[in-house]
Amino acid sequence: MQYSIAHRASLNYIGSKYRLLEFISQAIVETVGDTTALTLAELFAGTGIVARYFKGKVHRLMVNDVEGYSYVLNRNYIGNHTPFEYQTLLNELNELVGVEGRIYQYYCLGSGQGRQYFSDENGKKIDAMRQKIEQDFRNDQDLYYFLLASLLESADRVANVASVYGAFLKNLKKSAQKPLILKPAPFEITKNSHEIYQQNANELIRQISGDILYLDPPYNNRQYGVNYHLLNTIASYDDFIPKGKTGLREYGRSSYCQKNKVAVVFEDLIAQAKFKYIFLSYNNEGLMSVAEVEAIMSKYGRYSLRKRDYQRFKADKDSNRQHKARQTEEYLHILVKT
Ligand SMILES: C[S@@+](CC[C@H](N)C(=O)[O-])C[C@H]1O[C@@H](n2cnc3c(N)ncnc32)[C@H](O)[C@@H]1O
Repeated sequence: MQYSIAHRASLNYIGSKYRLLEFISQAIVETVGDTTALTLAELFAGTGIVARYFKGKVHRLMVNDVEGYSYVLNRNYIGNHTPFEYQTLLNELNELVGVEGRIYQYYCLGSGQGRQYFSDENGKKIDAMRQKIEQDFRNDQDLYYFLLASLLESADRVANVASVYGAFLKNLKKSAQKPLILKPAPFEITKNSHEIYQQNANELIRQISGDILYLDPPYNNRQYGVNYHLLNTIASYDDFIPKGKTGLREYGRSSYCQKNKVAVVFEDLIAQAKFKYIFLSYNNEGLMSVAEVEAIMSKYGRYSLRKRDYQRFKADKDSNRQHKARQTEEYLHILVKT
């Protein structure tokens, strides 16, 4: 499947559906038919790659995720839909002299805090760019989120982590030694505008309605607020005290990552959904079994299941760790609500 630049994978994201787009989009189109006049909501959007795929193919998108970095990415990739000129601004930001701001002070070795998520130079560059974006572009929301999304992705490319931000590597890996270059996060131009939210999915579901609901909640107990805490810090650039060796900030705990809570919140979501077609991505290693999901969804309409073999999330090859790719089964649970 060929994707345009706006559909490329952005972060190396846990549970990313980038490589499953064909499987998911085919199932949606085969179930629903022509999508062009329909509304699609994605409530656990992460990098927003599924919404990005459908951006020009549906009438309206509602895109949500509880994490701040995800809001930034989706506000840019989905929320932005009219063109503007940005190359000169990127050039200016790339020429800034680094400053010793929060990222340098909390997360770079040179500051003496003992953490090395970025090289000293890159940490200072992130600070300089982040401060300038806040000062000069806060009043132009489209540009602001475009530049922030560009910064998040560009910083992620030079982060000194195995793949997520739960911990940093002891030595600067090769990609982290390269200088940070702010590269654009280009979005697809569309006629229609779209809505972006940052809410708990179970709260949002009570406020919206539409035709297609795509759900991709976390599968296991790995909290996204821990694994991507540094991206939240770059996104919000707020005042806080980093905790412990890894410099974690306060984070929200999702009930979808908790074995004793997930079935209850999931059933509530399905019960409350004012959407005819519901699609749920989940894999065979999830906290809820296939049978549990089926039992819940079947109560609310006509249920079916599609599955596909899939190679699981793998840490990057540049890290010092050895991660073996694991074969899993990826499920798409389908409910036509009656
Ligand atoms: C499997 S990931 C989604 C990946 C996404 N489909 C992609 O391809 O990038 C699950 C997402 O659910 C979000 N999340 C977890 N609990 C949530 C909640 N209660 N409400 C909304 N979003 C939540 C996480 O922040 C995470 O981005």
